[in-house]
Amino acid sequence: MAVIAVFNQKGGVGKTTTTLNVAASLAMLERNPVIIDLDPQAHVTLALGVKGVPTEACASGFFRSDIPLDRLARRIGSGIRLIPGHPDLSKVDVLLGNTPGVAGKLRKGLESGLAWDDAPILLDCAPALGVLSLNALFAADRVLIPVTSDYLTIQGLNRLDVALRVLEQPLKRRIERRVVLTRYDESKPQCRDALATLKQRYGGILCDTKIAEDPALAESPAHGMDIFAYAADSPGARDYRHLTMELLSKGFFQ
Ligand SMILES: Nc1ncnc2c1ncn2[C@@H]1O[C@H](COP(=O)(O)OP(=O)(O)O)[C@@H](O)[C@H]1O
Ligand SMILES: [Mg+2]
Repeated sequence: MAVIAVFNQKGGVGKTTTTLNVAASLAMLERNPVIIDLDPQAHVTLALGVKGVPTEACASGFFRSDIPLDRLARRIGSGIRLIPGHPDLSKVDVLLGNTPGVAGKLRKGLESGLAWDDAPILLDCAPALGVLSLNALFAADRVLIPVTSDYLTIQGLNRLDVALRVLEQPLKRRIERRVVLTRYDESKPQCRDALATLKQRYGGILCDTKIAEDPALAESPAHGMDIFAYAADSPGARDYRHLTMELLSKGFFQ
């Protein structure tokens, strides 16, 4: 079991798109990926065409009623197993925020008797560092950080790096991380500048693969599809396939 948090406290950087399409790529390689949707917006759940699931049958059932995670997982046609998200996840901060040790709840839930031995588990996080994202980071062996080319997102990476270093102290281990540049458009100076800055500041953890700006990546969720089902020959499909192979070759999912 390798647990990967797809996290950035900034919204709109491609966390959900990356979770969906890396998981889909892993599913095609028969790696039996699991997605846990930890965002009250439940975008990855919707993008997988899953709607109308009661709160107790979603990740909220685990956090609020201690329902075991393997009872919440459902198999999607593409071979992904999904623990759906739900708007009620937004109540977790208020309900559990003061509970001692709450940040370790997901880790314990994942460790207790899951039959997901070799499965990569991807955690699609909300754009905030609340109880749910803390749970994700505590549970994660590794963090995949999507970033876009705008100035504020790149500046935000510094704060994220500091936050991860703070978390490493109670965890007493390093949280391995990789940054992936998304929505890349070679024709835009802003994107080329962002790539140069990222290489300079984060060269050691920057993925070689960049994800192109591709309308098909934005369209596919409306059809309840991943990019491989929606537009197998698109630049987005090519890039997410490459990213998955790169991460696999670097042992990110072990
Ligand atoms: N490479 C891309 N090319 C075009 N649109 C993209 C790309 N990546 C993400 N998007 C779109 O950008 C928006 C934000 O992406 P999303 O994955 O939801 O970000 P986050 O989960 O970080 O908030 C969505 O509408 C998504 O479809
Ligand atoms: Mg999202």
